Amino acid sequence: MIAKVRKAVFPAAGLGTRFLPATKAQPKEMLPLVDKPLIQYGVEEAMHSGVQNIIIVTGRGKSAIEDHFDVSFELENLLESRGKKDLLAQVRGISDMIDVSYVRQKEALGLGHAVLRAKELIGAEPFVVVLSDDVIDAEVPATRQLLDIYEYFGAPVVALMEVPRENISAYGVVDAEPVPHNGAKGRLFRIHNMVEKPKPSDAPSNLAIIGRYVLTAEVFASIEAVPPGSLGEIQLTDGLKHLLRSRPIYGYKFEGKRYDAGDKLGFLQATVEFALKRYDLGKPFREYLKSLQI
Ligand code: UTP
Repeated sequence: MIAKVRKAVFPAAGLGTRFLPATKAQPKEMLPLVDKPLIQYGVEEAMHSGVQNIIIVTGRGKSAIEDHFDVSFELENLLESRGKKDLLAQVRGISDMIDVSYVRQKEALGLGHAVLRAKELIGAEPFVVVLSDDVIDAEVPATRQLLDIYEYFGAPVVALMEVPRENISAYGVVDAEPVPHNGAKGRLFRIHNMVEKPKPSDAPSNLAIIGRYVLTAEVFASIEAVPPGSLGEIQLTDGLKHLLRSRPIYGYKFEGKRYDAGDKLGFLQATVEFALKRYDLGKPFREYLKSLQI
């Protein structure tokens, strides 16, 4: 029987150098998209995908994340006494519905190293990894789309997206073969190899790995087996490549729009599009944008 996925790991200990100075004292996962920090979008995606056990890997500025998901009695009392029921429900909602634990990555030694910090809390269970700076707007949450494939094959699944060749060096890239699958409409792939940040001329395809993964606990031994790269970083892609020797890994070209919110331009694009979609802001914001002489 295929084990149910109950746990999600949120690596949030990166240095966020592309977003300095905003990320000097707080993790980029706390940057607000309209009015919610990036990590909350990721946590809500996990929740709406049926995963309620949240493990956040923190580095510097961890208190901002912990406080965000904690109960704030002071704030709640104030909102209650002022009769602000909607706001109260919003600040309460998230901390009531999930169970959050924290593990620490003392040094930013790569995404693989960050995921390895969660080994004890995960145990032998399958789990998802959500990189919350990859914001995905989708009708069916991207994590749920991946879980549907995992629940069929019982093997790890990574999110894939087609990326223009000139940008491919920013991603882990797969060499993969399409797999026919009920309802997957050319979206499912069996992965043969993967390369972290290849030169455009060395990239095996234009299919890049995006920050959603369903993994099985064997990945920990694989991450432990790979040597660190030249900067001392342990890449998750290298761990997965090692796992490929003994396990099939699938890729799924998810339906939805992804924003790289860890990058300034991507963050601005996400902000504009999310604001335009909001019931309370969309109309005046659209009018404002139209009034700009651009
Ligand atoms: P990125 O490569 O996007 O994050 O990592 P970064 O290194 O913080 O960003 P830049 O490139 O310097 O701007 C993807 C995800 O992995 C986490 C990050 O927090 C982000 O969610 N991460 C990365 C860790 O938790 N630890 C690490 O050592 C590296």
